[in-house]
Amino acid sequence: MNIKRREFLGGALAAGAGLLLASKNLAQTSRSGAARIEILLDEKIGTVNPNLYGHFVEHLGGVVYDGIWVGEKSKVRNYNGIRADLVDALKRIKAPNARYPGGCFADSYNWRDGIGNRATRPTRTNFWNNDPAMKQSANSPGRYEPNTFGTNEFIKFCHQIGAKPYMAANLRGLGANDFYEWVEYCNSPAGSTTGAKMRASGEMGSKQPFGVEYWGVGNESWGCGGDFLPEEYAVEFRRFTSSVPGYGVPLKFIASGANGDDYNWTRGFFSKSAEKGGWVFDRMYGWAIHHYTWNASGGRTNDWVEGKSDAVKFDNEQHYNLLQEANRMDGLLREHWRIMGEFDRQHKTKFIVDEWGSWHRSGTEVGDNYLLSQQLTIRDALVSGISLDTFIRHADKVVMANAAQVINCLHSLFLAYEDKFVLTPNYHVFEMHLPHMGAQAIRTEFFAEPIAYSRNNQPSTVVGLAGSASLNGKTLTLTVSNPHISEAHEAIINLRGANVLSGTARVLSGDIHAHNTFENPNAVVPRDERFDVKTPLKFRFAPASVTRLQMTLA
Ligand code: AHR
Repeated sequence: MNIKRREFLGGALAAGAGLLLASKNLAQTSRSGAARIEILLDEKIGTVNPNLYGHFVEHLGGVVYDGIWVGEKSKVRNYNGIRADLVDALKRIKAPNARYPGGCFADSYNWRDGIGNRATRPTRTNFWNNDPAMKQSANSPGRYEPNTFGTNEFIKFCHQIGAKPYMAANLRGLGANDFYEWVEYCNSPAGSTTGAKMRASGEMGSKQPFGVEYWGVGNESWGCGGDFLPEEYAVEFRRFTSSVPGYGVPLKFIASGANGDDYNWTRGFFSKSAEKGGWVFDRMYGWAIHHYTWNASGGRTNDWVEGKSDAVKFDNEQHYNLLQEANRMDGLLREHWRIMGEFDRQHKTKFIVDEWGSWHRSGTEVGDNYLLSQQLTIRDALVSGISLDTFIRHADKVVMANAAQVINCLHSLFLAYEDKFVLTPNYHVFEMHLPHMGAQAIRTEFFAEPIAYSRNNQPSTVVGLAGSASLNGKTLTLTVSNPHISEAHEAIINLRGANVLSGTARVLSGDIHAHNTFENPNAVVPRDERFDVKTPLKFRFAPASVTRLQMTLA
């Protein structure tokens, strides 16, 4: 259907008023009437940067050891010591980048410990050694880092999966010169420097430079990365990134941004940076926002543990609470962006959401030693759907995002233990999003009655349907999440300026607690469904589902 702008806006206002009334009627548990999704084909937002589908690797619990690195002599199928099933799966979803080595670990890491011959690499105390949830035995790699996996092994992993490396430098514990020398080690031409010679010698040596473009300068510098004030960190960031030799590689520096809605951090950093002049933002590719969704207990408690829900045994309220938290990403991006624009008027610096995803209570990890690891259900798949769609709707602002973390951790796409390996529902959402990568994000407007529920005995709502659209040639991709636990939601899909010739649908849905296990790896997998292209164009979105519709335009 082709509607004019004025008609569209009129309809939108009416629908908006309807939504307001509906959201006031909080006792209502079911939603009446079809929703409406407007796809404004002539309003392009920007290219969906493939880097939105990035990953994160930290020396934490079972992520590196057992998750990624099993060793060349392992009975687990491996490529040069790296878990083969993981490499194969990451290639299938075209993993664009991976962030390494942390996280909080990064600001306690000396990159020199992880190079050269493995037999002589030092063992160091891991940042997470004293975490209250740590269950690992005395000499486990999670407590005492053996440095078997270091820069060369990580770069090998990146090459195997076809991803670009994104390194996080230690700003808290090391000096700026150590950072320059890591860049030299990674990027200086073969034989040119001591760094280049070190790179070529030792395990997985490489004469060829690694060409690392993305460099994080500290991590969570407001907390584990040094407890800085934003103004102090602004000075450190400038000092670290001043005159760094790139060896022909266009270095992209990423500053440690705010946690969730800490707007003071953004304001303090940007205002202090601007004092030096607007050129500072030319040097700053990304502002790294972190947003975990964990407050599933609805604010009943601020307790770090009690505020979270169990990864698998959660109630309906905790389901909706978590999705409400995930949907906050949209507002966070808007408000941080507004503040950044007060100082960086041309918005040279974009967002890198380099830690996002669910964070549940411990107790469902597949290995006893896996600190901060959890099962992932359909509820988490919805967190993925809602978050990735948010990034696409802000494709003009967000240039990279990294789910935390790739395997055996929080919002993981994979779980592994010894030779067992399984894809989580999150993996399937990433796979369904493949056609968005590199496409043109198109503005959409969703008019769907919100889901009313009770949050901590107070009336509350969750978005009725949420999604995003992109266009690649004649192929339009629309991804939509329906958070409702039990009700399908039909939506009329209006396309301004085009007719649809044919369509396909792929749906991931199920009981909100459903998850994949080593014994039952296919409990949650997407299915292809019929999508009849008729007038009006509509689709019935299944309860608790992430759906991808693909349409071929005339
Ligand atoms: O992803 C786990 C931890 O969460 C990271 O190390 C840290 O950056 C964040 O607080």
